[in-house]
Amino acid sequence: MKICFATSECVPFVKTGGLGDVSGALPRFIGGLGHEVKVFLPLYSTIDREDHHLSFDKKLSGLSVELDGRPEEFSVWLGKLPDSDVDTLFIHSHTYFDRPHIYTDDDDEDERYLLFQLAIFRVLEEMKWIPDVIHANDWPTALLPVLLRLRYRLRAFSKTASVLTIHNIGYQGTFDRSTISKINLPGKRTTRSGPFEHYGRFSFLKAGICFADVVSTVSPTYAAEIQTREFGRGLEDAIRTRGDRVQGVLNGIDDSTWNPASDSLIPYPYDAESLNVKSENKRALLERFQLPTDDDLPLIGIISRLTDQKGFNLLEPILESILREGDMRFVVLGSGDEHLQNVFRSAAHEFPDQIGVRIGYDESLSHLIEAGADIFLMPSLYEPCGLNQMYSLNYGTIPVVRRTGGLADTVVDLDEDPANANGFVFDRAEPTELERALHRAISRYDDRFLWRLLQKRGMASDFSWTTSAASYLSLYREAVVASEM
Ligand code: ADP
Ligand code: GLC
Repeated sequence: MKICFATSECVPFVKTGGLGDVSGALPRFIGGLGHEVKVFLPLYSTIDREDHHLSFDKKLSGLSVELDGRPEEFSVWLGKLPDSDVDTLFIHSHTYFDRPHIYTDDDDEDERYLLFQLAIFRVLEEMKWIPDVIHANDWPTALLPVLLRLRYRLRAFSKTASVLTIHNIGYQGTFDRSTISKINLPGKRTTRSGPFEHYGRFSFLKAGICFADVVSTVSPTYAAEIQTREFGRGLEDAIRTRGDRVQGVLNGIDDSTWNPASDSLIPYPYDAESLNVKSENKRALLERFQLPTDDDLPLIGIISRLTDQKGFNLLEPILESILREGDMRFVVLGSGDEHLQNVFRSAAHEFPDQIGVRIGYDESLSHLIEAGADIFLMPSLYEPCGLNQMYSLNYGTIPVVRRTGGLADTVVDLDEDPANANGFVFDRAEPTELERALHRAISRYDDRFLWRLLQKRGMASDFSWTTSAASYLSLYREAVVASEM
């Protein structure tokens, strides 16, 4: 098949979260199964063209699209996903993408991603490369299915189908209703209800959900959750309307990057047979955070965007008392919400021997935390898939998670199902529940035999992208069939 994979983040070029990881891996694995994939990505100014060996495409220069009644020019740069044959096409617009941040609160945020999506079709037309499937990801590319259905299927793309993957329904691309009139869709598109109206505004994601041939999300549990009022964020009805066209495919993890045996970002690589080496990484991690290394308290790792989604407001009320008890240590890497950043910073100030905190983004430290921590904490209020609990399982780091979305699909609680357990799970989003789960975990830490068993079970799990890529191929085929109906 020919697949156009459109995304707003992609490792190693640009990443703010899991979408970047997924976009850097899935197209490679689909390519590896013998299919032709082209990835489309905005050329943000944070992407270094030299470092990534990007080249300006002369043949695709001087192109423009019509945006809000005026011509907007853009250019195309070419690269490859590392270790693959997958072409990556970067859309560059000085007006829209030369900004300090990837996502912005600027007044023209809608136009930035309108331009990106219009440019994708323009490039496909110019190259005469007609994909079987356009795979859109999250709101920044969610209008591709709409453009396809209402405009481009009437042109060369009559046989192209679309899949929209929702990585996080919390981000919907909601703007003023006038946004949709900035692209000239056939027919009257600014009606008061239907796909182009969302509580009096316009939502990229809602429109995409209504028009995609197949809608998917990144875990089976999240696929069910987003059809409910509690998790649907106002889009539950739109999703339910799509019936069995809504599917959940669990993300994989990229073994070439997240494998403790070959990880070049950790000082002491190890595998399930050499788990004692893990403690060398723990020592290195403790030293990095200037925490004591002369005892063996369980070390809890956190790597996260600090947003409401991630549930650290559950940790806040109990953090001080846990630290005072002194039977565990924390290392925290994250950034986001000011208040949460301050909560962690002041904890580190008050308990310098118990908790180390780095506010910021640090790829290499994130690997050391996965390798050096004993326990990994993800108390998410919702979690479409979550990658770090899977990285943790691969690194013999025991996850403590809340039962939601992809966390529910990947972590099995020790007390509930001892024969299959690989971690600790709690249900209610309450601080006391989180505290109990953490205590259950640390009370088992000294049972070396049990702990090893849990570690080895986690390390034996198969989260390979090969399996998930095969599921995406089935989705693509399903989308093609659906588009013909
Ligand atoms: P989300 O996409 O919601 O942030 P995921 O668990 O899917 O959650 O993916 C998060 C990804 O971003 C992981 O690869 C994680 O290691 C990485 N990450 C998050 N915060 C940081 C940070 N401060 N520094 C380095 N990596 C981070
Ligand atoms: C989102 C979700 C996360 C998921 C990632 C990749 O950002 O919050 O749970 O793993 O996308 O699909």
